[in-house]
Amino acid sequence: MRANGPLRLGVLASGRGSNLEAILAATTRPDFPARVAVVVSDREQAQALERARRRGVTALWLNPKDFGDRAAYDAGLGRVLDEHRVGLVCLAGFMRILTPGFVRAYAGRILNIHPALLPAFPGLHAQRQALEHGVRVAGATVHFVDEGIDTGPIVLQASVPVHPDDTEESLSARILVEEHRLYPEAIRLFAEGRLQIAGRKVVVRAAGRPGAGAPASEASL
Ligand code: GRF
Repeated sequence: MRANGPLRLGVLASGRGSNLEAILAATTRPDFPARVAVVVSDREQAQALERARRRGVTALWLNPKDFGDRAAYDAGLGRVLDEHRVGLVCLAGFMRILTPGFVRAYAGRILNIHPALLPAFPGLHAQRQALEHGVRVAGATVHFVDEGIDTGPIVLQASVPVHPDDTEESLSARILVEEHRLYPEAIRLFAEGRLQIAGRKVVVRAAGRPGAGAPASEASL
């Protein structure tokens, strides 16, 4: 556990919130080194807000209409996260592109999950893109957020097979199982101080061995 208590997470979500649910489930385990401090959504009806409230976690709707532009919205977001002393921002199906100013303010402290093996199929409808391209293997990626769309340094990836009769729904469901496993694992590694960004690469230090590390793709999960 960290000297100053568990890492405080701010989860940003716009919809269903199944990744949030996986994070909430993991972070309620006593030995997990992080807790969800606040959940913020840009959509009032997001199921994610409901999931957080059900578990007694502060859940806030930040209405984009209350802000003049994207920079103002992101400044508001930053104020909420700072108020809740958030150490790591986790995007979990957050459907807004963060402004460069926000990304800079939280540099190296924002994670995202994407339902594809990046750098393949960034952006919307990744699973549909994968099926249309005819790939045999698909998957999920947790990455740090930089100023691009799904372009930041990769923390963890997991692959799943694509079956000949897959639909967008069946492939998405198979990928989602991996997402729910990967995201809490990546948060744990961050909370344990084991992730180091080195240019495009993320080095994952072995547990209990500060300074020693291997590229994330070689780390065993
Ligand atoms: C997930 O597929 C995630 O990879 C993508 O958006 C989806 C969110 O699903 N970024 P949920 O809201 O976590 O259920």
